[in-house]
Amino acid sequence: MTDVGRHPRITLYTMSELLDIKGYVGNFDARILKKARYVKENECTACGECAKACPVIRPDEFNLGLSSRKAIYSPFPQAVPSAYAINISECLGNNPVVCGKCVEACDKKCIDFHMSDQEIVEKVGTIIVATGLEPYDPTELDEYGYTRFQNVVTSLEFERLINAGGPSGGDPVRPTDKKIPKSIGFVQCVGSRSASRGAAYCSNICCMNTIKSTLVLKEHYPDMDIKVFYLDIRAFGKGFEDLYMRSRRLGVNYIRGFPGTVEEDENKNLRVTVENTASSKLEIHELDMLVLAIGIKPAESTRKLQEMLGLQLTPDGFFLEAHPKLQPVDAATRGIFYAGCAEAPKDIKESVTQASAASARAIRLMHKGHITSEPIISEVMEERCKSCGRCVEVCPYKAITCDVKNKKPAVVNAAACAGCGTCAAECPFDAIEMNHFTSIQIMNQVNALLEEKPQEKILAFACNWCSYAGADYAGVSRIQYPANVRVIRTMCSGRVDEDFIWEGFRKGAPVVLVSGCHIGDCHYINANHWTEKRIEKVRKKMAKLGLRPERLQLAWISAAEGARFANVMKEMEKLRAAVTENEISQTVTLLKEKK
Ligand code: FES
Repeated sequence: MTDVGRHPRITLYTMSELLDIKGYVGNFDARILKKARYVKENECTACGECAKACPVIRPDEFNLGLSSRKAIYSPFPQAVPSAYAINISECLGNNPVVCGKCVEACDKKCIDFHMSDQEIVEKVGTIIVATGLEPYDPTELDEYGYTRFQNVVTSLEFERLINAGGPSGGDPVRPTDKKIPKSIGFVQCVGSRSASRGAAYCSNICCMNTIKSTLVLKEHYPDMDIKVFYLDIRAFGKGFEDLYMRSRRLGVNYIRGFPGTVEEDENKNLRVTVENTASSKLEIHELDMLVLAIGIKPAESTRKLQEMLGLQLTPDGFFLEAHPKLQPVDAATRGIFYAGCAEAPKDIKESVTQASAASARAIRLMHKGHITSEPIISEVMEERCKSCGRCVEVCPYKAITCDVKNKKPAVVNAAACAGCGTCAAECPFDAIEMNHFTSIQIMNQVNALLEEKPQEKILAFACNWCSYAGADYAGVSRIQYPANVRVIRTMCSGRVDEDFIWEGFRKGAPVVLVSGCHIGDCHYINANHWTEKRIEKVRKKMAKLGLRPERLQLAWISAAEGARFANVMKEMEKLRAAVTENEISQTVTLLKEKK
């Protein structure tokens, strides 16, 4: 962090909030609110005289309320920049009658009560989202007694206690009597791996954090009785299993089972009742202190940032990467990358690795001074465009602008367009084309595939990233599926124009399938939401025309779901077999008349 603060080409905005961000790769405008520090940050030497003089005492957030700070303070000892700041909502003010003691104490005259918040606009080429995490608050798990019993602390609070720079100078003192406990218990998976008690995912860091704490304790207090209540220990990093085994060898008692109840006696000692699932016995453990190994949640700012930048979230609420294997640090929006727990729970090593990868990806994009974009992008045919603005509405990347008022044709920003093709599918005037996936190209594929014996074919549209890959996976896994399936690949299911579907039926297809990534997994943010709406619309039209809507199916198939792809195709084959020749010819006649 110190290096970042000193780097001539890094501008660090502390105490700042991102208000808004607009633009696209190579050309983002970030509007930042820089909050007033009330201390001149370049002149303050962090001598601390002001804090000594300040009469206001507040809980210190960095030490999780286990110590106190003043209204003028440095957030933590190694904070960058090394300058104090005033929390103006706590400060008594610069009125000498009321206070103003810090101003008197500061020899350098760094304190300035006339400072005000500033709004700054920065132009940036790429963005790395590294918004961190939120620790889980275990208060709702009443059986553990957190906040009811002072000697029940979270792993974060305990971390501050055993830190040499922490409020107790590194001594793991009990909050009630400030004595070193003789016995400590750790409860794992608090707020993790249970959908009804926090989050369903594993928080990744808690096992190793507990093992590290047990090693620190055993090093300083070899006779301390340490118990770890766990479900299973996940020590899969480099050297982690060794640390776990060392902790066991040092006498740490690992008990498989979580406490059912925690009670406190008159001496503030804790009575922990646990069902040991290894021995199937109910055990009662007397402990001086209990540490809850709390899980990780997405940072509070995640949702706001997601809306601002048009990013995707996983069902767990973390940011979704463009591809879990091939683009693990890229967002679906070009020029945006992820680092650290913004993307998923991870430890320091993984966060550093990901941050290095994200900065390398950003540098790779920017170092040329220009960007090269994929040729698969949309193009507006101005002579056909009626400036209705539909394309602007459906574009997940905000890559299209259209002056609807003055009836000017829509304009596609080639740098921002990712090539999902939703605009081309939704344009009511066929005024947008998708390069490499043009309507003519796809229509020709439909015609070619249904040229012979169309009544025996299953026409399937599959998105490049999931369903098509699912078909591939079914193939390499040697999973059998009906041989009469004819697949047309589009980059996204959002590209499947309703005209393609009608053309399929017009050419005699008994059934048509549109398939894509699962909702929330679309590689073009939310383009498949439009697919869903479009298919629903076509089905309604089919019903009005007297065609059976079941003949048009929509299925979400991921790249890993080869078996599902095969099953969906088997179901399609059953549907196909139920469509009579008569039904097909009636459809063909009807649709030819309608054309
Ligand atoms: Fe698969 Fe959009 S990329 S549905």
